Amino acid sequence: MTVADATQQASTPAKAAACAVAHAGVPAHFTMTEDEIIAKFPNRLRSYDLFRKMGSPRHIVAPMVDQSELAWRILSRRYGADLCYTPMFHAKLFSDDNPKYRNEQWQTNDEEKPVIVQFCANDPDILLKAAKLVEGQADAVDLNLGCPQRIASRGHYGSFLMEDWDLISRLIRKLHENLEIPVTAKIRVYEDVEKTVAYAKMVEAAGAQIITVHGRLREQKGHKTGLADWDKIKAVKEAVKVPVFANGNILYYEDIQRCLDATNTDGIMSAESNLYNPALFSGKILPTWQMAEEYLEICKDIPTKFAFIRAHMFKLFRYSLPIHTDLRQQLGTAKSLDEFRSFVCEMKSRLIEDSKKEDAMVFDPENVEIDALGYRKYPHWICQPALRFEHDKVHSQSKRLLNEALVENGSAKPVGESADNTPCESVSKDISESDSKRLKVTIE
Ligand SMILES: Cc1cc2nc3c(=O)[nH]c(=O)nc-3n(C[C@H](O)[C@H](O)[C@H](O)COP(=O)(O)O)c2cc1C
Repeated sequence: MTVADATQQASTPAKAAACAVAHAGVPAHFTMTEDEIIAKFPNRLRSYDLFRKMGSPRHIVAPMVDQSELAWRILSRRYGADLCYTPMFHAKLFSDDNPKYRNEQWQTNDEEKPVIVQFCANDPDILLKAAKLVEGQADAVDLNLGCPQRIASRGHYGSFLMEDWDLISRLIRKLHENLEIPVTAKIRVYEDVEKTVAYAKMVEAAGAQIITVHGRLREQKGHKTGLADWDKIKAVKEAVKVPVFANGNILYYEDIQRCLDATNTDGIMSAESNLYNPALFSGKILPTWQMAEEYLEICKDIPTKFAFIRAHMFKLFRYSLPIHTDLRQQLGTAKSLDEFRSFVCEMKSRLIEDSKKEDAMVFDPENVEIDALGYRKYPHWICQPALRFEHDKVHSQSKRLLNEALVENGSAKPVGESADNTPCESVSKDISESDSKRLKVTIE
């Protein structure tokens, strides 16, 4: 007798639940067996079939609220991202009869493949209602089980469901039994590796077809972010049969292979480092203004909220804005695409000047200096990861140095790349030959 048979024979939902547990040894909310689900959705892809259909992605852009929007995903794909997640959407707001939130947040286009839409939710019916709205446009729907912010605590979603495995299982199962496209999940880890593994197996058993493991605890946020634990990610990978994406500690291109080797996972997801260096997955070392210009070009065709654009600009120019402080206000008050473009033009011209100054660092991507803590010393006009806190740097010193020691001599160094130095409208400034010597990275 299948779980569904047992459920049908029972006269009340309570009896049905009891029957289901009694007969199949699975949670009561599993109303269908895997065979029945396959029969219901014969074309729906499962675990590695889904992974392969998406092109066996190794480089994955993380879900990022207000930051992994369509324009950014397009830019990231041009520079090596194989798969992108949307920002997390609130299932309740998304599925509201008033489409305002949905229309503001969710954008895609015909070229956008593959893409996974992420939701946070705590009600299976509402999650399903939201997921149904993207069924024909996404490769899968992901459940956010990692958000550690206070707003997630108040709303009871994200990592604050980690104490309620039954609810998590019901959320995933609801989609697994009722959605035309697969469900995936993004989890954080517990202190205890056994508990982490048991948790991932529960998520898999509920129906998740891919699991992303962010190797940090719920408490590791803000100034306590610190390092992700790749060993726990590895333990999950060993324990489940579905593809696993590793998330955390990717600062440089070389970290990708290190993480794959250390965790044996199927792909690597990056959030922060992708924001500071959208070319991260390509291994290219590029000037910040090139990424900013290209992103704004994309925004010409893809209407993008100015708040998102502004946040991207602040991140891209993170190391230059403290030097050109007067441009902060220009960026902070920009209210049109043209104003953002003027800002980037002005910044670009100043950065090129900076690179020519006597004391400017002569930058050779083949020979990047590494500081005492194992971090690379890039000039401020080069896209580079953000190191938020001295605390983090010190905390991660030993691991970082260990990782660096693994870089094969010279062979894993990033390669230089030519830049599109198209002069911009307001400041027409070609890079001269002397610039090119100093800005070796942009011209080679
Ligand atoms: C700006 C920003 C927004 C984020 N928004 C989300 C989100 O919407 N959903 C989610 O699951 N994680 C979100 N995260 C967490 C990331 O997806 C990722 O798990 C975390 O930053 C660790 O990866 P990293 O070390 O590469 O940054 C966000 C992170 C950042 C920096």
